Amino acid sequence: MLEKINEITEFLKTKGVVNPDAGIILGTGLGGLTVKMSNCIEIDYREIPHFPVSTVEGHAGKLIYGDFGKKKIVAMKGRFHYYEGYGPEEVSLSVRVLKYLGIKCLFLSNAAGGVNPAFKIGDIMIITDHISLLPNPLIGPNDDRIGVRFPDMGEAYDNYLIKKALIIAGDLRIRVHKGVYLSTSGPTFETPAEYKYFRIIGADAVGMSTTPEVIVARHMNVPVFAVSIITDLGVEGKIAYTTHQSVLEEAAKTEERMTALMTEMIAAL
Ligand code: HPA
Repeated sequence: MLEKINEITEFLKTKGVVNPDAGIILGTGLGGLTVKMSNCIEIDYREIPHFPVSTVEGHAGKLIYGDFGKKKIVAMKGRFHYYEGYGPEEVSLSVRVLKYLGIKCLFLSNAAGGVNPAFKIGDIMIITDHISLLPNPLIGPNDDRIGVRFPDMGEAYDNYLIKKALIIAGDLRIRVHKGVYLSTSGPTFETPAEYKYFRIIGADAVGMSTTPEVIVARHMNVPVFAVSIITDLGVEGKIAYTTHQSVLEEAAKTEERMTALMTEMIAAL
């Protein structure tokens, strides 16, 4: 695995991807953040050795390196999900590569269904913790050069970054919630009984991604900040017919607020 990571990292460095301050993995419909980047180098996932190719509409499959405010970032436009049939190594490879490129911090965004009754469609939830019902990406032999066998997950989402985000959101007058993100495999959206169950066991929002990436980042001691955009509600009496299209549309409506928050977060690094 490390050999593969080094090979990809070297390839990207020869393309000019050097010393990024932060990495950001952009979720469903949130790719628009990259228009605020300048001096960009854009690399299609298909050009990158060993890289899987994302198959989902709304996930472009591009790595974009460039200036974002005064910082250099690598934005991954398109992520890999278990429901696409990828294994743990493929789902987590991009995070490993970001770490070996030198990021100091990983930012993640996703679209999610809100199961907290206080949530509204279009709300932003800062993820403070998670319940991962996906296979753990660290299952298998551990490479001690990369991280420890049994990583602690007591502060998977960096408390300092969460506090910072709350201050920034207040300054920008963006309504945000804090909450627990629960990941399931998908690709089905939940039944009403499943949404209810997830609420009972402690979730505020439900989605199909992010936790494997967070686990892999924490394995390598990379601080993580993640947000969900609430694109639909899994609350009794408020459950509406959900499609990938409706998720994309609702995510797009929140993109501006989300980008503003991420911009200030990265600037404050
Ligand atoms: N469930 C799971 N994943 C999702 C949802 C949902 O309701 N909305 C967006 N992604």
